Amino acid sequence: MKGLILSGGKGTRLRPITHTGAKQLIPVANKPILYYVIEAVRDAGIDDIGIVVGDTEPEIREAVGDGSSFGVRVTYIRQAEPLGLAHAVKVSRGFLGDEPFVMFLGDNLILDGIKPLVDEFRREGPHCEILLARVPRPQEFGVAELDGDRVVRLVEKPKEPRSDLALVGVYMFDATVHEAIDAIRPSARGELEITDAIQQLIDRGRVVKHHLVTGWWKDTGKLEDLLEANRMVLTRAKRSMEGDVDAPSRVEGEVILGKGSVVRDSILRGPLVIGARCTIEHSYIGPFTAIHDDGTIRNSEIEHSIVLARCVIRDIPVRIEASLIGKEVRIQRSQLKPTAYRFMVGDSSLVDVL
Ligand code: DAU
Repeated sequence: MKGLILSGGKGTRLRPITHTGAKQLIPVANKPILYYVIEAVRDAGIDDIGIVVGDTEPEIREAVGDGSSFGVRVTYIRQAEPLGLAHAVKVSRGFLGDEPFVMFLGDNLILDGIKPLVDEFRREGPHCEILLARVPRPQEFGVAELDGDRVVRLVEKPKEPRSDLALVGVYMFDATVHEAIDAIRPSARGELEITDAIQQLIDRGRVVKHHLVTGWWKDTGKLEDLLEANRMVLTRAKRSMEGDVDAPSRVEGEVILGKGSVVRDSILRGPLVIGARCTIEHSYIGPFTAIHDDGTIRNSEIEHSIVLARCVIRDIPVRIEASLIGKEVRIQRSQLKPTAYRFMVGDSSLVDVL
């Protein structure tokens, strides 16, 4: 069985972060989402993995390499444009051949992995197996309708969903999916939808199994979901202190402090993670915060946030929370006159001031 991870696409809902980087490489608890995905596929016993890439190919290649650091073999498959999930399968035909495969969307996180599901698929051999989860806003997903235990209808992002069962971004297929994809046409939004291809399989009388996911799953495509993913992963953090904490500082709960980091006169209240070579001074770092390498936090308070590498946050009088801060951002209090807000903020940014 092969693995196919989709890591192309545009990431419009996470701009401006995705103006300059792949959304699948945004770190959750300081580790790129894509790494969790590769590990989940590997832990299901699959070591031959294709990664579909688009414009951010160089960055993804740089982060993942040939896969050997994960113990897998990675083949990169270029998709010239993000023309849909089924299109991504189409361009991967050479890599997939006629083998069964698991397709995993590179921005989806399933905390407990997919091994039992892949084992079940291998054992029972349906043509397709999909994962479903009950969600509060099904109109933002592919939605499944069941008749008893049978999947009868799948609709991509319906305006009026007929159920609250969303398609989770993990799918298992045998080679019959390729004929189904050949039979579909682009949807109203111009994409070849995998949802339509699975509907084709159903209409052709193929065996499409489903599995209800009750554990924790998130599509990290939006800010609040990303923060929630960060929160969830951090709830499993275990204390590990490789940096240096001075005597006046207080460390509470599960705190991960990376090599070369220094904490001076501060409170760290976990669960949280601070990367390597960070400086934390006269500050409060609260629960569910992830601060990436080479960051500086001085005279400030932050919690429930993701801060990417090489940021400086200093002298901010009000606590920062529920924030996603990109690489090399400086947030500081200015002494300059006139007293005024001064911004240099990238396209599609959001700044909430008091
Ligand atoms: O997260 C689950 C949902 O994922 C499902 O419920 C939907 O049925 C399914 O269509 C998908 O919806 P999204 O709108 O979230 O898909 P998105 O465009 O964000 O793409 C998902 C991943 O696949 C992302 O990592 C980018 C990648 N991708 C996407 C497209 C459209 C590609 O590699 N190529 C593509 O052409």
